[in-house]
Amino acid sequence: MKLPSIALLFFLLSACSSDDSENSDVAIGKVVFEANCVVCHGKEARGLVSNWKEKGADGKYPAPPLDGTAHAWHHSPLQLLNTINEGGIKMGGQMPAFENTLSDDEKQAALDYIMSLWPSELKTKYEERFK
Ligand code: HEC
Repeated sequence: MKLPSIALLFFLLSACSSDDSENSDVAIGKVVFEANCVVCHGKEARGLVSNWKEKGADGKYPAPPLDGTAHAWHHSPLQLLNTINEGGIKMGGQMPAFENTLSDDEKQAALDYIMSLWPSELKTKYEERFK
């Protein structure tokens, strides 16, 4: 198991004292996201390019936004978790696999954070479809 950084540990400890466990997962997820995902998916998961459907100069698709403006919300929580675990490199994409670099809790928290960025009508639709 990979040990979380001191900063994350401190954060987890302070987050655990919060009453609202869902909000603290989101807060932890933000830390995980900013440490591991923001380089490609951009601040608040808005993506780094104006058109994520267009291949870059390297012939590969850029990281899509995960904030509800692209496709992520079409995929079940399990599919999204699979992408985080397996990445996209195997399939010719660019995303590294996080299976062994993040704990299950960190992956779930990152996903909770991503979903917290979605507009509420999207979240409602998503929950009706997948829960
Ligand atoms: C090196 C750049 C890079 C990093 C770092 C990265 N991603 Fe990605 N991500 C991508 C790319 C590019 C795709 C599209 C698939 C591909 O090409 O691999 C993607 C796809 C995804 C998808 C699927 C989106 C969809 O529409 O189904 C999710 C979810 C995701 N990433 C989450 C994360 C999370 C969470 C992290 C951090 C733990 C992360 N990514 C880190 C580049 C990255």
